[in-house]
Amino acid sequence: MTVKPTILQELPADLEREKLPRHVAVIMDGNGRWAQRQGQPRIMGHRRGADVLKELLRCCQDWGIQALTVYSFSTENWRRPMEEVNFLMTLFERFLRQQLRELVAEDVRIRFVGDLAALPLSLQAELERAMEATRQNKGIRFTMAQNYGGRQDILQAVRTIATQVQHGQIQPEDIDEAVFERHLYTAGVCDPDLLIRTSGEMRISNFLLWQVAYAEIYVTETLWPDFDRSEFHQALRAFQQRDRRFGMVKN
Ligand code: IPE
Ligand code: IPE
Ligand code: MG
Repeated sequence: MTVKPTILQELPADLEREKLPRHVAVIMDGNGRWAQRQGQPRIMGHRRGADVLKELLRCCQDWGIQALTVYSFSTENWRRPMEEVNFLMTLFERFLRQQLRELVAEDVRIRFVGDLAALPLSLQAELERAMEATRQNKGIRFTMAQNYGGRQDILQAVRTIATQVQHGQIQPEDIDEAVFERHLYTAGVCDPDLLIRTSGEMRISNFLLWQVAYAEIYVTETLWPDFDRSEFHQALRAFQQRDRRFGMVKN
């Protein structure tokens, strides 16, 4: 099933361009429930979810969002039934193969963050191909968190820095936030300003733990396969109404 193109191609008039989040992160949740509500197997929700992701990426491009990061597979998702995990891995591979030409043409810079070495080899090859083919692109920075865990991200950064200390390349007192961030998987992209979670769950589920320190959190009851442009519009409207204080006092 393909998602119908919607009419909101231009930035909706009630959104202020200068107050858009630079970086949007999304926990795409609720695929299984969506499918089950239609009496279909869970995997049908994942299939539809991939179409919705394409549409959101396009919407971010149309509306001038600079970076989009999505949680597509967590380090904990291996605990699911093997058939579902296998289906997801194949879906990611197919998604990339089918989308790559368009991603290149649309100037998207794609990147994958997470423990990629643990993924099936054929998928790893596809991820490499996609990153390589879009490396020079200058458009939206699109990151997929694939076999990603926030704790694991922090630990791998700690290990790298500890090794550098051991070799005398850096002194412990020189480790500050900027140094630390350079070793996270997400290095080079600003922290998310807005974190969206679909399907109503009020938790982070080990997503970008360090990076969401000051993200505005928006949770919608809408299940991921139903998250369309008008839902994204609502999330952006809510974001623009927030008072981001960063610990300061504002009147
Ligand atoms: C999110 O949807 C997709 C992944 C975690 C890969 P779920 O599969 O978690 O759907 P629900 O939460 O069970 O409905
Ligand atoms: C979070 O969703 C992971 C992804 C969306 C990839 P889950 O469905 O795995 O999270 P929990 O289990 O409800 O916390
Ligand atoms: Mg879920």
